[in-house]
Amino acid sequence: MTAATTAPAREQEDDDRPERTGDPFDRDVLPTPPGATGALLRSLLAPMRARVAVTTLLLLLQQAAVQAGPLLVAYAIDRAVPAFRADDHGPLIAVAVGYLLCAAAAGVLQYAFITASARVSQDVLLDLRGRIFRHAQALSIDFHERYTSGRLISRSTTDVEALRELLEEGLQELVTVVLSAVYISVLLLWLDLGLGAVAVASFVPLYAMVRSYQRRAGRVYRKRSTAIAAVIVKFVETMNGIRPVRAFRREAANDADFRVLNRRHERTNGDALLEMARYVVGSRVIANTTVALVVLWGAYRVADASLALGVLAAAVLYLRRLYDPIDRLGMFLNSYQSAAASLEKIAGLLAQTPSVPEPSAPRELPGRRSEHPGREVVFDAVRFAYRTGGEVLPRFDLTLPAGQTVAVVGSTGAGKSTLAKLVARFYDPTDGRVLLDGVDLRELAAPELRRGVVMVTQEAFLFSGTVAENIALGRPDATRAEIEQAAKEIGAHDFIAALPDGYDTDVRKRGGRISAGQRQLVAFARALLADPAVLILDEATSSLDIPGERAVQRAMATVLRGRTAVVIAHRLSTVEIADRVLVMERGRIVEDGTPAELIAGTGRFADLHRAWRDSLA
Ligand SMILES: Nc1ncnc2c1ncn2[C@@H]1O[C@H](COP(=O)(O)OP(=O)(O)OP(=O)(O)O)[C@@H](O)[C@H]1O
Ligand SMILES: [Mg+2]
Repeated sequence: MTAATTAPAREQEDDDRPERTGDPFDRDVLPTPPGATGALLRSLLAPMRARVAVTTLLLLLQQAAVQAGPLLVAYAIDRAVPAFRADDHGPLIAVAVGYLLCAAAAGVLQYAFITASARVSQDVLLDLRGRIFRHAQALSIDFHERYTSGRLISRSTTDVEALRELLEEGLQELVTVVLSAVYISVLLLWLDLGLGAVAVASFVPLYAMVRSYQRRAGRVYRKRSTAIAAVIVKFVETMNGIRPVRAFRREAANDADFRVLNRRHERTNGDALLEMARYVVGSRVIANTTVALVVLWGAYRVADASLALGVLAAAVLYLRRLYDPIDRLGMFLNSYQSAAASLEKIAGLLAQTPSVPEPSAPRELPGRRSEHPGREVVFDAVRFAYRTGGEVLPRFDLTLPAGQTVAVVGSTGAGKSTLAKLVARFYDPTDGRVLLDGVDLRELAAPELRRGVVMVTQEAFLFSGTVAENIALGRPDATRAEIEQAAKEIGAHDFIAALPDGYDTDVRKRGGRISAGQRQLVAFARALLADPAVLILDEATSSLDIPGERAVQRAMATVLRGRTAVVIAHRLSTVEIADRVLVMERGRIVEDGTPAELIAGTGRFADLHRAWRDSLA
């Protein structure tokens, strides 16, 4: 499992972590605490309250200008035309000029409104993307072990995109429709109470229609966004784990899985369209019936002269304006629905709190760094269990004196990596304390902790950027000379110098040229430059080849000098450089001594060592 394969262990784990595990974290919708969505929305809008107010005012004015049109038509028919017949041209000219002015004002105001609202929505999206990234990055390792990277990607792409669609395309129209409905109702009631009442009455069935559509579409949309997230997760996981996929001939099985997920997404899409069609047809029936009623009743009243023709014309024009956007209203509601579902999921993610929280009153490590090349690590009555599964460390006491190099060996699953992760504070103990020079790790602020403890793992991840940048990760202010010095000491300089652009080689573009072993050397140089008081190497030499063993030993000796070090290695040659060896079984230390003592004894380590010697012979 921990052998030097080209595929890092994490990728293999990813591959068998599909969403059917039933783990609550693995379900698409994180349990979003009640009120979290509203709170998120408020906090996003709070800093731009003034601009939201200005935007709203612009829209109010723009709608007033737009809705003046039919009123002017009514005035033209009932007053201006008769006056014109009586040779009074004034009113008609006034109407024409007024109409033009209103149209011009509406245009200018609309321009201002669109620009203002676009700026608001861009800022909201900017803020939200930043928050998702910062928050996800700050969440503890145990969260990331459960919440797959595919899901995180889906949060910051599909879900943010749904919000973008609403903000950029839907929301303005939605607000415009609602606002114009209010304006038009008031104007209709004012023009003619009876006709206005008929129009307003049509809102009752329309509202019922919209509500039922919202309810049903909401359900469908939630299903749809879960379905699309599953498609993305499957895709990302498969491509991330492409090596094990190939190695185990998983292609056909993956194809089948993907087809099922893809189909499910397609079906939910179909359901969404069906709801939409129902809504459009239903609302049109209501709209057209109302228009027919108004025309019929209005015509009767015009005939018996209880209604002016211009008022009827204006009423019909207003009704058209009222009902025209009704199809689109369904669409806006769609984007509103999916944005609401997305926002809920984002709020769920943002409501997650790190299980390894920052201290509220951080403490500093005693003394200056230069006086403490290494620091003492103490496990004080520690017990530890992962969130899922039983206790991995049952009551664990251990003192690692400052500057000591401790090798930890033991069978797979014994708890070696768990021990290491507790020292690096990827997790907090379930009970007891882990102390660094007497200070509980929980009381150290993140920067202080990272200066104190660095963990190098088998994965030796390289970030996009140059080799030099990757080495400088642990100390971004390092000079080029310091970077090269670190590489030289580790024995990585020669291969780096041989790369096409030397230290400036982009590791992503030519990533294929950097082997797993070379990646580990870069990781060593990185750790050396970071210069932590406590260094943990978890299988960090597993990809380094045997012929390079002596060089590796030298590199290790260099990187460990003076520090407190925990070295976890299956290869016993690496263990020989240790001052002390711990043999771990089932979360307990079963042997503890210098390599020489243990080899001379009769315990497990002596057996292991004998077998290893024999294998070399
Ligand atoms: N993230 C996790 N969630 C739940 N259980 C875990 C997790 N990581 C490890 N475990 C369990 O904890 C136990 C100890 O695991 P650990 O990784 O510490 O073993 P190890 O000694 O490092 O093994 P190896 O030599 O294979 O690396 C194992 O039983 C493992 O299944
Ligand atoms: Mg391990």
